[in-house]
Amino acid sequence: MIEWMMALVLIASPSPVNSCRTCHGGESYLDAKSVHAKLFGCTECHGGDSSILTRKAMSPAKGFKKIRNKKDIAYLCARCHSDVEKMLPYGEFIDEFRIYKTSKHGVLLFRKNDQKVAVCTDCHNVHDIKGADDPSSSVYPFNVPNTCGKCHSDAEYMKEYKIPTDQFEGYIQSEHGILRMQKKDLRAPGCPECHGVHGARPPAVKEIHEVCGRCHKAQDEYFKQSPHANFSEALKGCEGCHGNHKIVKPDHNILVSEVAGEGKGCLGCHSPESKEEKLGKELRDMLVKAEQVVGLALNNIERARSKGFEVDEEMVKLKEARGFVVEALTVIHSLNRELVWEYTQDAVVAAEDINDLVKAKLIEWRDRRVMFVFNIFVFAVSAVLLFIRRRRRIREEV
Ligand code: HEC
Ligand code: HEC
Ligand code: HEC
Ligand code: HEC
Ligand code: HEC
Ligand code: HEC
Ligand code: HEC
Ligand code: HEC
Ligand code: HEC
Repeated sequence: MIEWMMALVLIASPSPVNSCRTCHGGESYLDAKSVHAKLFGCTECHGGDSSILTRKAMSPAKGFKKIRNKKDIAYLCARCHSDVEKMLPYGEFIDEFRIYKTSKHGVLLFRKNDQKVAVCTDCHNVHDIKGADDPSSSVYPFNVPNTCGKCHSDAEYMKEYKIPTDQFEGYIQSEHGILRMQKKDLRAPGCPECHGVHGARPPAVKEIHEVCGRCHKAQDEYFKQSPHANFSEALKGCEGCHGNHKIVKPDHNILVSEVAGEGKGCLGCHSPESKEEKLGKELRDMLVKAEQVVGLALNNIERARSKGFEVDEEMVKLKEARGFVVEALTVIHSLNRELVWEYTQDAVVAAEDINDLVKAKLIEWRDRRVMFVFNIFVFAVSAVLLFIRRRRRIREEV
């Protein structure tokens, strides 16, 4: 009966018949929502015959194929997305499937038939598929971490795997997460920038510094000169000190304590009284000293400014001094005492130059004040003398 009524509706409708859409609604497959809908219909993926108004439309004889599992899905998407001829007109890559098979997700799916891992439709949706440049897409850069987090922060879903489920929570509290998710700054990494998109896997321990080094080049260069570079396996590259997901803005405590953010401070791995602890303290002291002197220079500049002096030259020097401190924070990755000392010392020298310049100005200012008071005094004395003389002259005239 229902099928009869459906048939009547279909006959009455003026547009080309699509029985699949009529029975299944197809709201999520509206042209405006999906990239595919503009290009082809249901049968491209499902087979069957959309001109048949009954359920025979879904007859295997008409090529209808059931999608039984995630492997079927991957093959289905790959049918077009790995086909040069089909994708060429659109200038699309054709390596998603090939790379996917190398990811942890793909390996578990194809080797162990694991149905919980992510397949194409888990990240892109089943029908409502959109390009990465569409703000409402699940793979839009600001939405991707939520898409990955859907499974990876669901402890119940992930319980059979022996991996933590705190990556998303850590990430959104990190410098990276705050920058990307709250400040909408694309320079900061989302999950794929560290793990790969279709090849998602954890970086091998030895590669971690390279992953970070893609963006933090200078730190990586110095890290590679440090003694730690030889022990990357045990230290986990940058992760050893900074952590991996909850990476916060580091401070000098990292050099003298056990924990720093999600990562570890020197004492997290080296024992008190060791030569490494001593080095950490020395490095910290150099930084603190440089910052103190630079801070003092700034105070002096403010004093000179408040007394009406031009301080342009000092400000240029201050910028230079601060630059050395910032560089020292990068150079510190070498763990090279002499090198760090050089930079902090450059900052100290520049700051002391400022202090000298300001001192000269303050002396000039003091001299000017003294001269001013002296002048007033001379003026007052002459005025009094003049006055007395006049009074005397007037008296003499009388
Ligand atoms: C007359 C209504 C009707 C028409 C026409 C129709 N379907 Fe269906 N379809 C159904 C119903 C009801 C079910 C659920 C029952 C079942 O699984 O057999 C279903 C199930 C499905 C499923 C899930 C099958 C599974 O078990 O995995 C897919 C996919 C599907 N339809 C696609 C299509 C496509 C593609 C077309 C057009 C070629 C189409 N349908 C035409 C009514 C219809
Ligand atoms: C780009 C390929 C593609 C196109 C085009 C497509 N589908 Fe699907 N569809 C899928 C995949 C993949 C699944 C399996 C999802 C799963 O099992 O997780 C699916 C599942 C379904 C299902 C069963 C599960 C559900 O979501 O209810 C129905 C019904 C369905 N599609 C109907 C349609 C209809 C109707 C159209 C056309 C308007 C259509 N599909 C177009 C790929 C496609
Ligand atoms: C019948 C061939 C075909 C199938 C099957 C197919 N696609 Fe596509 N897909 C295309 C074409 C063609 C485009 C359009 C490319 C464009 O507009 O740049 C496209 C676009 C896309 C885009 C957006 C690309 C962009 O640059 O905007 C994504 C994401 C996508 N497909 C994912 C999938 C997924 C996931 C599946 C499996 C569920 C799938 N596709 C199945 C042909 C197909
Ligand atoms: C773990 C999640 C995930 C899985 C699984 C996945 N993708 Fe993607 N895919 C993404 C993300 C994230 C992007 C956006 C990448 C970017 O911005 O460069 C993307 C981009 C794409 C694009 C280009 C979109 C565009 O607008 O440029 C296509 C096409 C695509 N994927 C197809 C597939 C196919 C086919 C599969 C299955 C073999 C698949 N993806 C599996 C997450 C995934
Ligand atoms: C459908 C759920 C799901 C989604 C969505 C998903 N994953 Fe996964 N992921 C899994 C499962 C399940 C595993 C297997 C756990 C294991 O490795 O034992 C896994 C494994 C991984 C691993 C390897 C972990 C390890 O140490 O073995 C990485 C890395 C990973 N996923 C990253 C991502 C990224 C990045 C995204 C988003 C672009 C994402 N995943 C989206 C379910 C998902
Ligand atoms: C700044 C780089 C970076 C970002 C961003 C990042 N990860 Fe990771 N991730 C790592 C590193 C490094 C490891 C650890 C590798 C190791 O120790 O062997 C890791 C490990 C993992 C693992 C394996 C299990 C574990 O915790 O050790 C999963 C799963 C994972 N990340 C998922 C994600 C997800 C989901 C996101 C986004 C919410 C994300 N990652 C963002 C760098 C990153
Ligand atoms: C896609 C680029 C990218 C990748 C990959 C990346 N970062 Fe970052 N990171 C940034 C950006 C951008 C900032 C913001 C600070 C800035 O403006 O320089 C940042 C900030 C930081 C900060 C805080 C610095 C501060 O002064 O606030 C640390 C520490 C850090 N990252 C460490 C890492 C580590 C460790 C890894 C690897 C596990 C990593 N980053 C991977 C781009 C990246
Ligand atoms: C041995 C511990 C250690 C390792 C390993 C390490 N860092 Fe650092 N990192 C530090 C210290 C110490 C600082 C300076 C913190 C402070 O005193 O403010 C720092 C600061 C940073 C900063 C902020 C610099 C700034 O200008 O404020 C970034 C970014 C950074 N590290 C990235 C990395 C990257 C990338 C790697 C791997 C190539 C790495 N770190 C490896 C200890 C480490
Ligand atoms: C995540 C653990 C970890 C952290 C944090 C760490 N180290 Fe190390 N460090 C190691 C390992 C492992 C070695 C290899 C030799 C060993 O086992 O003692 C090493 C070696 C060294 C060496 C070379 C020793 C030698 O005999 O060649 C120095 C110097 C050093 N660390 C200084 C530091 C300083 C300074 C800090 C803090 C900024 C620090 N380390 C933080 C793990 C760590």
